[in-house]
Amino acid sequence: MKLLVIGSGGREHAIAWCLARTRGLQKIYVAPGNAGTAAERELENLSISDPQELAKFATDNKVFLTIVGPEAPLADGIVDIFRARGLRIFGPTKAAAQLESSKDFAKRFMVRHRIPTATFETFTNAESAHAYVEKQGAPIVIKADGLAAGKGVVVAETLKEAHITIDDMLASNKLGEAGARIVIEEFLNGEEVSFIVMADGKNVLPLASSQDHKRIGDGDIGPNTGGMGAYSPAPAVTPSIHAKIMREVINPVIKGMAQEGMPYTGFLYAGLMILKDGSIKVLEFNCRMGDPEAQPILMRLKSDFLKLLEHAIDGKLDKIEAEWDLKVALGVVLASAKYPGTPRTGNIIKGLPPDNSFGEDAHVFHAGTAFNKTEKIVTSGGRVLCVTALGVNVRAAQKRVYELIETISFTGMQYRRDIGYRAINRKA
Ligand code: AMP
Ligand code: GLY
Repeated sequence: MKLLVIGSGGREHAIAWCLARTRGLQKIYVAPGNAGTAAERELENLSISDPQELAKFATDNKVFLTIVGPEAPLADGIVDIFRARGLRIFGPTKAAAQLESSKDFAKRFMVRHRIPTATFETFTNAESAHAYVEKQGAPIVIKADGLAAGKGVVVAETLKEAHITIDDMLASNKLGEAGARIVIEEFLNGEEVSFIVMADGKNVLPLASSQDHKRIGDGDIGPNTGGMGAYSPAPAVTPSIHAKIMREVINPVIKGMAQEGMPYTGFLYAGLMILKDGSIKVLEFNCRMGDPEAQPILMRLKSDFLKLLEHAIDGKLDKIEAEWDLKVALGVVLASAKYPGTPRTGNIIKGLPPDNSFGEDAHVFHAGTAFNKTEKIVTSGGRVLCVTALGVNVRAAQKRVYELIETISFTGMQYRRDIGYRAINRKA
C-alpha cells in the first residue's frame, strides 16, 4: 500500500514519520518533502507540486490515500480536484478551507453560529480603519483577511503601531491581495492553546491538546512567528475546558458548516484564548494540523494513524478512539538567523543523527532543509528543524530536548530556551 503526504515542513515530516510506523506499507511519498524526509527509509520525496499532476500521480501509482499538510493547497482546492477523480484524500474542500483562508469569513461564521470570539470589524478603506482604532484604543489586533504565511497578524501595542499596520496593509499593499481587506479585533489577554480535531463532515475525533509558543523571544516577547516550539498535552486544557471547547466551539463549527452546505472534513485547528474567568474565545481557525504542534502530538499517538485517517475519510470517526502516550512530548524549533524577517539560508547543518532518530523517544523533524550541490544538508527556510522528545513530565521532556540541541549546529541558529515554561510554572 502506498500513501502520499503533501507538503514540505516539520508537520509533514511528522505526519509521514508517524504513518511510516504502520505495518504493511510499501511506501510513503512526500511531495515535495525536505532533506529530512529524504533521509527516512520508508519515505520518498516527489518533486511535483501542481495539484492536477499530483492527482495524476496518485491515480497512476494507485496511492491508497493522500493527506494534505499545509493550508495553501487546501485553499486552492486540492481536495476538490482529488475527489473529482475518485481519489481518497483527507482535508477540507476549498469552500470549507475558507475557515482559514478568509478571516472575515471565519469571523462572520462565528457570529452566525454564536461561537465565542473577539469583537471585530472588517475594513477595506484605510480612513475608516484609522478612525476605528482611534475609537477603540490600543492594544488592538489587526489581521489581513487572506493567507499571509504567518505574517498577517499584528498585535499592536500602541495606536501608532496600529496606524502603521493599517497603512502597510491597506494603503501600501505590503501583503498584496491577502491584506486588501483587514479584520480589526479586540485584544484578548489570557493563555493561548491549540485544540485540533479530525472531522469527517459529521463526527469529530479530538487529538491531544497542545500549546505553541508564537513569539520569537523567550517569555513571549517580540514579533509573531509560525511557532517556535510546542508541547502536548497542554495542562491549561483541563477536562472542563476540554468539554467547553467541544460544546461551544468544535461541535457548533461542524454542525454549522454542514448546515451551510460545506461539510467540514479534515483536521480542524482552533486557536483559542482561555481568559482569566475561564471563558474561551476563538482567535483563529486553521484547516490543517498546527506546525510545530503536530510534531509533539504525533509523537504521542499510540493508535494506528492510518486507521484513524481511513475512518475519517469513510465518515466513521464515531467508531474509533485515539490512544495517547501518557508521557509529555515537547518540541523546540531551531530557526535561521533573522527569522521571522528574511531568514538567512544555505548554511550547512552539523550534528544531525542518522535517519533523524535519537532513539525511540526523540526525533529531529526537518522543516526548512535541503541538499546543496555537494549533497550536504543545508538550511533552506526560516524554521529549520524541530527537535522533539518524550519525557515523564514537561521538565524531563524539555531537559532531553535541550540536551539534544547541544549536538546540532548551523551558523546563525536561534531558538527559544523556555519552551514549556507555562506548564512548568503552573505545576510550581
Ligand atoms: P491568528 O493567526 O489569528 O491566530 O493570530 C496569530 C497570533 O496572534 C495568535 O496566535 C495570537 O498569539 C495573536 N492574536 C491573534 N488574535 C489575538 C487577539 N484578539 N488578542 C490577542 N492576541 C491575538
Ligand atoms: N503553530 C501555529 C500554526 O500552525 O498555525
